Order: sequence, then C-alpha cells, then structure tokens
Amino acid sequence: MNYWPHKHILTLANFSKEDFKIVIDLAHRFNSVSNADVKMVPSLKGFLITSLFFEPSTRTKNSFELAAKRLSADFLSFHPSSSSLSKGETYLDTARTYCSMGSNILIIRHSSNNSPLEIAKNLDFFGFKTSVLSAGDGFNSHPSQGLLDLYTLTKFFSPINLDPNILFNKTILIIGDILHSRVARSNLWSLTAFGANIVLCGPENLVPEEFSNFLSSNHPYELVDPIKDRGKISISRSLEQSINNADAVITLRLQKERMETNLLSSMKSYSDNYCLTPEKLDLCDKEIPILHPGPINRDVEISSQIVDSYSNCLINDQVANGVPVRMALLYLLSKVNLN
Ligand code: CP
Repeated sequence: MNYWPHKHILTLANFSKEDFKIVIDLAHRFNSVSNADVKMVPSLKGFLITSLFFEPSTRTKNSFELAAKRLSADFLSFHPSSSSLSKGETYLDTARTYCSMGSNILIIRHSSNNSPLEIAKNLDFFGFKTSVLSAGDGFNSHPSQGLLDLYTLTKFFSPINLDPNILFNKTILIIGDILHSRVARSNLWSLTAFGANIVLCGPENLVPEEFSNFLSSNHPYELVDPIKDRGKISISRSLEQSINNADAVITLRLQKERMETNLLSSMKSYSDNYCLTPEKLDLCDKEIPILHPGPINRDVEISSQIVDSYSNCLINDQVANGVPVRMALLYLLSKVNLN
C-alpha cells in the first residue's frame, strides 16, 4: 500500500488524488469482506476505536461500528445522555478520557464546526498518538460521506476499472440546502478533485452566490490545496433548467436543525421548485444516477416514487458502500497509529 499522510481525517480539502484513490481501492478490497461468508478480517485486532457522537446518527455511527467490528477492533460507543457530560465534563476532557483508556482512533460527530480539529489539536498538544476522524461537524465537513459518494459514483460509471477519473467533465447537480450541508462541502472537494463540474441548485437563501468561489475561498486550517486542476462550481436557481445537462444528481435534506431563522417562505413552494419528482427527472434524456446521503424527508426534497421505484436511485448503495469505505479509513489510520 502507498504511503498514507494523514494522522487525522478532518476534511477532504487536503486530500490529493492519490489519497482519494488509496481509499477507493482499499474500500473495494474490503467490499469483498462484506460479501464473504465470514465477514471479518483480523487487521485491527488489539486496536480500540471509540465513537463520540454528540449529535444523532443512524448511518454513520452504525457503519463505523460495523466497519470496526469487521476489522476485529474493540469498539467503545459513547452516549451523551448517559455520560458525564451531564455533570459538566467538557467534550475535550471526554475525548482525553477515552484516549487515556487507550483509544487508538476517536470518531467524532458534533454540531459545532471544527470541534474535531479542536480535539485533534488538544490531543496532539498533550502527546496522545490517537487519530481523530470527523464523522460530521456542524456544516463544515463530513469526510466519510464525501468519500462514499465518490466511491458510489465511481462504481456506477466505472464498475470494471473503478477509476474516479471517469468523473472528468461530468456534470453533477447538487440540489437543496447547500448552506447548511457538510455533505455538500465534502462532496465539492471529493468530486471536483477528479474534474467533475458541480451545479449547485436551490433558492438564494440556501445556495448563496458566494458558493461559486468555494474552492478558492474555503481552505480550512490554512491548508494549501494539493489539486491544481479541479472541476468548476456554478449556481442554478432552476431544477427544471439544470437537470437536462446533469450526469448525476445528489439531493440534500433541509437541515432545519442548523437553520437560525426560517429561510423558506413555505415548505410547499420549496418542494414545488426543488423536490426531485419523476416529472422533473423526465426532463433529463438519460437514465442518470440519483443519490441522497440520508436521512430523507420524503416528498420534500425527493419523491417517494424515485426513492422506492427508480432503478438508478443509489441511496441503498450509498449506505452499503459506507461500510467498506469506513473500513478503509480505520485501516489507514491504524497504520499511522503504529508509527
Ligand atoms: N448521511 C448521514 O450522515 O446520515 P446519519 O446522520 O444517519 O449518520
């Protein structure tokens, strides 16, 4: 395996094309474990992986747990409501407590932007070797989702060679609440890395014009972008007009928990314009793949007919692909841990 340079995985903004390909190739190898009779390998025997989810999750939390177990790691799961947070313990002290128990990897979901970075810096400062993996922080970053979406689209367009360069010059339409979406931000880094052009579609309140400059103005932690020739980002206010040119669509949930004020005049006008329905999908002359990171609000951002009956709806594939992708990430961080 090629050299893996990241002790912590907090963003995809610092991933090179080589880094993305390492994850995809390894995920594909681990995918065969998911399909084998004995769905377990001993790779992480003796490792302790801890999930610290301060926000709810179904897919990410459970697929990280399954990934850890399939790699034979020990797994600790933290539940905020029954933890010492209620006695006033901070999340930094909570993280250090689990490191002192010997956690090799902390998987962190939190509602605050950059909280996994703050934890990683704190652990580094105090000399812990523990790796931190963001499982979604505020609207900032959701690296494992960005990677599993890249893997899912690569598998769809290049099932034999599994080459993400197949995305070069493809148009990927991302519809909905971009402003509050960590998934969209991670997808912008992962998909443009291989030359996909992204059209962000939604009302101005949820898709501000500034997003067209996202790649040049959003380098977190003063990182230098390792990729010079990314795909472009453009903005559309009309789903009907933009779907015709799309090669794939990613629909997003309205993140009501992150909206400070009610940004929409009415839910009906939002879904009239931006809910992906069979009628709107018919405006595209190709059988394009449809993704959604979940959880879905049926008939708000995507119609039940598409979720349940459209053959290229890849929502279940995304969930299934999450397990081998997360196995790959845990495996790669376990190698850093040994150094
Ligand atoms: N896509 C995603 O992050 O889903 P969960 O909130 O269920 O983990």
